[in-house]
Amino acid sequence: MKNYFITGTDTEIGKTFATCALIHAITARGIKVAPMKPIAAGTINLNGSDINEDVAVLMSAAGNSFAISDVNPYCFREGIAPHIAARHEGRPIDIDVIRAAYKRLCSSSDMVLVEGAGGYSVPMSDTESMADIPKWLELDVILVVGMRIGCINHATLTADAIRTRGLKLAGWIANTPAAQMAAYEENLATLKRVIAAPLLGTIPRVPASYLISALDATRLAVKHLDVVSII
Ligand SMILES: Nc1ncnc2c1ncn2[C@@H]1O[C@H](COP(=O)(O)OP(=O)(O)O)[C@@H](O)[C@H]1O
Ligand SMILES: [Mg+2]
Repeated sequence: MKNYFITGTDTEIGKTFATCALIHAITARGIKVAPMKPIAAGTINLNGSDINEDVAVLMSAAGNSFAISDVNPYCFREGIAPHIAARHEGRPIDIDVIRAAYKRLCSSSDMVLVEGAGGYSVPMSDTESMADIPKWLELDVILVVGMRIGCINHATLTADAIRTRGLKLAGWIANTPAAQMAAYEENLATLKRVIAAPLLGTIPRVPASYLISALDATRLAVKHLDVVSII
């Protein structure tokens, strides 16, 4: 079974949301999925501990069955660009730490879904970027496209950058994190033409009136995904 790196056209476009929906959809097929968010910036206080919100949501989508130190080896306090947060805390990111945590998750699950931070080329240091993670961990990539104006440009550049690094784009998801964009169907048709990879699903905005929690919303999104090609 393959493991995947989940990237997106930007920050706040639904990478975590789509990853949780993937976790639910794949888990429903009897496959044990481990989430990983190797680098996170920004914490909230949850029951007395500082934790990154994405990490908390991903962990609970996967039934809280993995060690947080493996799911999230690097958690920086400030919600800023990770390489700057790492510099402020004097804690440079070491890929060997990430690789060791990833291997532990691999040995305790059937599939690992690794969520990046921000967009595909966000720096990790002055010399390395988030895009090095799928390269180092030998992961195929899933691209979450946040359906809003500008997404065709972001999606095309990201898909090109993935292929330029010799990585495989295994599929993409069209997610609507906010109001439905104007000319949605035409934008979707254009994206299908320019992204040469399977569309795993189109997730509409789950209306706030249905939301009990962000996690419940991701459960509602499962019916919009087809995971057959990635499991
Ligand atoms: N399809 C959707 N329906 C409703 N809310 C969504 C949807 N996609 C994302 N969101 C919300 O938008 C915000 C940003 O999504 P998130 O997954 O955290 O983005 P990213 O991981 O790309 O930064 C979150 O509050 C999330 O719950
Ligand atoms: Mg996220």
